[in-house]
Amino acid sequence: MIGIFDSGLGGLITLKTLIKELPDYDYIYFGDTAYLPFGDKSQKIIHQRTLKAVDFLFKKGCYLVILACHTAASQALGRIQREYLPENYPERRVLGVTIPLCEAVVENLSENLRVGVLATKATCYSGSFEKELRKLNPKIELFCQPAPLLVPIIEEGKWDWKGLELCLKEYLNPLIEKEISLLILGCTHYSLIKNKINKILKGKIEIISADEVLPLKLKDYLCRHSEIEDKISKRKRKTYFVTDFSSHLEEMAKRFFGRKIEIKLVDLD
Ligand code: DGL
Repeated sequence: MIGIFDSGLGGLITLKTLIKELPDYDYIYFGDTAYLPFGDKSQKIIHQRTLKAVDFLFKKGCYLVILACHTAASQALGRIQREYLPENYPERRVLGVTIPLCEAVVENLSENLRVGVLATKATCYSGSFEKELRKLNPKIELFCQPAPLLVPIIEEGKWDWKGLELCLKEYLNPLIEKEISLLILGCTHYSLIKNKINKILKGKIEIISADEVLPLKLKDYLCRHSEIEDKISKRKRKTYFVTDFSSHLEEMAKRFFGRKIEIKLVDLD
């Protein structure tokens, strides 16, 4: 099984694109909806919650867990890989979405090396995008814009709301002024409003997001790591867990997948 972790809808977007490209694997989605949004939480809480989720997914039989959440990846991934994995599950893997996205950014850049990133507060303040991008190309000039209101609006399902457009303009204008050539959607939730963002950018700035990049990057990873690939079950099963359940969530998942899905409630505390 492949575990997909996020605070909420961002993980479902990632899961949907992975299923399309890699349909044979079994997947478990885990949404820590009780603690949503992650973006305004402290590193301590984000690390604790991510660790609990990874542990849950490993106990369910996942050999590979993807943190489909830049906030969790920026605040918790390094420590989980350094401390928790070697001690508890040395043969399993936890991967994030930030590194594959940064690799794709570098592959897509032309002469203009001014890049913008729109992300949660926690991701922006962690400096994770700067760190990863500079490793790949030290000449990149990165401008990071925190967008704390977007996740609650997206989770609320207000994808066509006028207020969303106002917020987006507020967040995007400083990046447009910096004359960026490429915008990174540094939060997996934002893929749901990509067309709105593109409209404000008037189609003039390239947009890149993890949902587009991850399926091929994961395919490549699994080809290179047969020791992990061999252990992932392949019966096309999907299971969904959340830490807080509401009829709104059920409705959102239905809207998103186009059919009702069975979501199980789990208590990690
Ligand atoms: N979708 C997540 C991310 O990529 C988390 C958003 C949040 O819960 O604030 O950062």
